[in-house]
Amino acid sequence: MGTIKILDETVSNIISAGEVVENPSSLIKELLENSLDAESKNIKIEVKNGGRYVNINDDGKGMIKEDLLISIERHATSKIREKEDLFNLTSYGFRGEALSSICAVSKVKITSKTNDLKIGTGITVLAGKITSLKDVEKNTGTEIEINDLFFNTPARMKFLRKATTEYLNIKDIVLQEALVNYNVGINLIIDGKETINTTGNGIENTIVELFGKNILKNLIKFDYGYIGNSSISRSTRDSIFVFINGRMVKSKIIETALIDSYYTKLVKGKYPFAIIFLELNPKDIDVNVHPSKKIVKFSNDTHVYEMIRRAVAEKINGTDDLTSRDVEIKVEKETRSLNIDDFKIFQKPMVTVNKSLNISEYINSKTLGIDKKIIDEKFEIDMETGEIINQELNIERREKQFDEVREEIKEEVEEKKEEIFTEIKKEFNEIENKIIKRENYINKNYKIIGQFYNSYILVENNGILEIYDQHIVHERTLYEELKKNILSKEISRQALLIPQRINIDLRDQDIIFEKKEILKELGFEIEEFGKNEILIRTIPIFKFQESIESLFREVIKELKEYKQRDPRESIIISMSCKGAIKAGQKLTLEEMDILIGNLHKIGEYTCPHGRPIILKLDLDEIEKKFKRK
Ligand SMILES: Nc1ncnc2c1ncn2[C@@H]1O[C@H](COP(=O)(O)OP(=O)(O)OP(=O)(O)O)[C@@H](O)[C@H]1O
Ligand SMILES: [Mg+2]
Repeated sequence: MGTIKILDETVSNIISAGEVVENPSSLIKELLENSLDAESKNIKIEVKNGGRYVNINDDGKGMIKEDLLISIERHATSKIREKEDLFNLTSYGFRGEALSSICAVSKVKITSKTNDLKIGTGITVLAGKITSLKDVEKNTGTEIEINDLFFNTPARMKFLRKATTEYLNIKDIVLQEALVNYNVGINLIIDGKETINTTGNGIENTIVELFGKNILKNLIKFDYGYIGNSSISRSTRDSIFVFINGRMVKSKIIETALIDSYYTKLVKGKYPFAIIFLELNPKDIDVNVHPSKKIVKFSNDTHVYEMIRRAVAEKINGTDDLTSRDVEIKVEKETRSLNIDDFKIFQKPMVTVNKSLNISEYINSKTLGIDKKIIDEKFEIDMETGEIINQELNIERREKQFDEVREEIKEEVEEKKEEIFTEIKKEFNEIENKIIKRENYINKNYKIIGQFYNSYILVENNGILEIYDQHIVHERTLYEELKKNILSKEISRQALLIPQRINIDLRDQDIIFEKKEILKELGFEIEEFGKNEILIRTIPIFKFQESIESLFREVIKELKEYKQRDPRESIIISMSCKGAIKAGQKLTLEEMDILIGNLHKIGEYTCPHGRPIILKLDLDEIEKKFKRK
């Protein structure tokens, strides 16, 4: 007998579900697109439990009983009929796979009613099988409730990321869908909190609802959407939104065309804010290359590239920058944004926290926690008298167990102490090494020659020509200084007379608020302020070369990029980057001397990211270049 068998449908559905429903955000995308295909005008999505619970309610066409029953079958679709339709897509859906995949891996309830019927239908589905069917009273439209996503696929459930990460991805998807479907009102509620709410009143209104008025003011219209000026440029590509025939896509070609057209208008490492809507003949694109439908292929890449590049260049060439425009949309009154000079009014620090732990306090603070935890797990103990409160155990047994626990604790404490001592020893050795290195340097007697290109400092040092990157030199010294101050809690902060409002993309708000306490430790007190803004009440006493807004953007970027790292480190790195003098800034010999001197005091010769600070050329190399050797 042969060994190949056709898979039972429930098994094959679970497999295909893995491709269509990878995670809560892809599930929401599928459901939302179904509601959009059903020509809904209002769609409400509620999410809970890290995305394992989703309820989506629309006022679209709805389904009659027959269609509802079949909708959850694999390859059931009302959207295409024959092969040719695949090359002429006008709807989001076309595979007839989403609902069946979702049903295969969760507990689903669907109710639906069409406009011409008085009564609707409701079904419940468990792991792909219909378990109940009844008539229901309902408004026209469809409501789908997903419970316990991945309840029967433990492997996939394990891959669910923490709630804030899933929520971030959900927000990103819904934001993009709401942006392109600007004539549909879309409402996203996460854990009871309204996160996105668009009213469906046109593109510009939707931009304001999603990103705030400031963004719209700094966007100009062009043939294929909107492009932003440098005041709203970003340090990632996250704010380049590309839609082709209403479908959100990632397209390298279009991004490259856009970035190329900005050319020198944006500082290196900055990306434009842009919203691009392209309408192409469905015959010239193929969305069927990936089950997620996120990747598109063009029949003619060069044509698309040129089209975008030319249209953007036409708008931005000849102007120094795209100036912001007046927009007439009723949002609260403008606030003045503060610049660095405004901070100078505050001379005296408001609060100074000055507390450093000594080693024994530190060890105690670390080990105290251990005693308590272990005891808590085993018994209840009155921490003052040392009495065991659990009355059920007889005294002897209790005492014996107590002794055992005491032993365990002692061992753990010893281990922990050992660990801490080795750590301290290691740190001590490192410091000692640094001192030796530094002394070597200081005795070597170097001489500042001057500045090259207002960006590099030239130094002669014992027959070697050294070239220092001035930005990185300063960045490194600030980094060390900040780190030292933060560890010893010597950060002073100042209250802003007028709290500063800054625009933070709603997708990034959680990243910041999760770290609220840490930011406070570092001198930044922040508060939520509407969906797209945060309010900064205090900042550390520190000289920033750029705006606080650009600092926060950098912090977000660092936090996103290095998730495993201590967030304090990310914030310190961002602060030192934004506080450091830049390339192109003219320095006096004295200033250069201080900068280089400070660097050698620290004795670290790479930037906090690991890039080198000094380039060295010895006489030998120079003489070879001159063919003296
Ligand atoms: N919210 C809704 N309102 C009305 N009809 C719906 C809704 N959701 C699904 N349907 C119907 O159920 C069918 C199956 O949906 P499903 O998402 O599985 O497939 P599809 O949208 O046709 O294709 P794809 O798998 O590419 O999404 C749809 O073709 C549509 O007829
Ligand atoms: Mg669909």
